[in-house]
Amino acid sequence: MRIAVIGLGGMGSALAERLLDEGHELEVWNRSPVGAEPFAGRTEVLVDPDAATADAVVVSLADDDSLLQVALPDGQARSAWAGMLVVNASTVAPATQTTLAGAYGDRFVAAPILGAPHAVASGQARWLVGGPAPARSTLAPLWAAFATTTDAGDDPARASVVKLLSNQMLLVGVAMVAETVRLGRAAGLDDDAITELLRDSPMLAPGLANRIDGLVDPDHAGWFTSPLGAKDLTHALGLATDPQPVTTAARDAYLQVAADGWADVDVTALVERGRRR
Ligand SMILES: NC(=O)c1ccc[n+]([C@@H]2O[C@H](COP(=O)([O-])OP(=O)(O)OC[C@H]3O[C@@H](n4cnc5c(N)ncnc54)[C@H](OP(=O)(O)O)[C@@H]3O)[C@@H](O)[C@H]2O)c1
Repeated sequence: MRIAVIGLGGMGSALAERLLDEGHELEVWNRSPVGAEPFAGRTEVLVDPDAATADAVVVSLADDDSLLQVALPDGQARSAWAGMLVVNASTVAPATQTTLAGAYGDRFVAAPILGAPHAVASGQARWLVGGPAPARSTLAPLWAAFATTTDAGDDPARASVVKLLSNQMLLVGVAMVAETVRLGRAAGLDDDAITELLRDSPMLAPGLANRIDGLVDPDHAGWFTSPLGAKDLTHALGLATDPQPVTTAARDAYLQVAADGWADVDVTALVERGRRR
């Protein structure tokens, strides 16, 4: 399948690598040319999203605003993408998926991704796929790039809901364990003892196990930044109208550490809360 990957951040780059490994013909584009440099000479680098000539365009951008700017310039579907299937892999609000479905009609499929970039690159991630059945079926070669696909049905917005609920559990969980680390340190435990506790404890959700090293790493090297975390929790809170104090507190913590200078490192920087970088 010929696939255009639009957006080459951590996730888009990993996805492009995976699709190349799977033998797909690829076109790639990134706003900042430096992001596309690793692909130069290996696949076609587009100068503009309008230059895409693929069967399907897969968009992986930071947030709702960047997605709408690129996929719906001037509020309209890109005429250059006429005839192509349009897949949104970015994590956005359900209403944003509905807006895109309104513009691209039966050619639009929401496909947020569960998994870190390294899981994407190795094919271990999961697609959450929502959209018209014929488009989902035509895109089977794309879904085959990952180990698992969850079918969210015909409504693209539903795929976002499932993705946001999953990330709400992840991000509130990271916020909780960050406080476990802070409490342990305050009580005099060293990081080796805290790490051992976290690795051995049945109280730590399996999905948080790959965050332990990041929590005690002073650089918080990782793959998912606090601004992205705050964005996802804001969207999760938007699923209900009544207050959700635990999720709200976690969202505000991610916003605070980002404002304190930790915006470009992993969400595990939450252990630094209250300290400017
Ligand atoms: N990281 C994860 O573990 C993870 C997991 C699942 C889902 N996701 C979701 O996947 C999406 C991408 O995440 P990521 O980790 O790849 O983020 P990222 O590394 O921060 O990359 C963001 C991408 O968006 C582009 N971008 C931002 N604003 C733009 C604009 N106004 N116009 C055009 N391009 C713009 C950036 O281009 P430049 O290079 O030019 O800045 C870059 O390609 C997000 O929705 C995120 O929530 C991430």
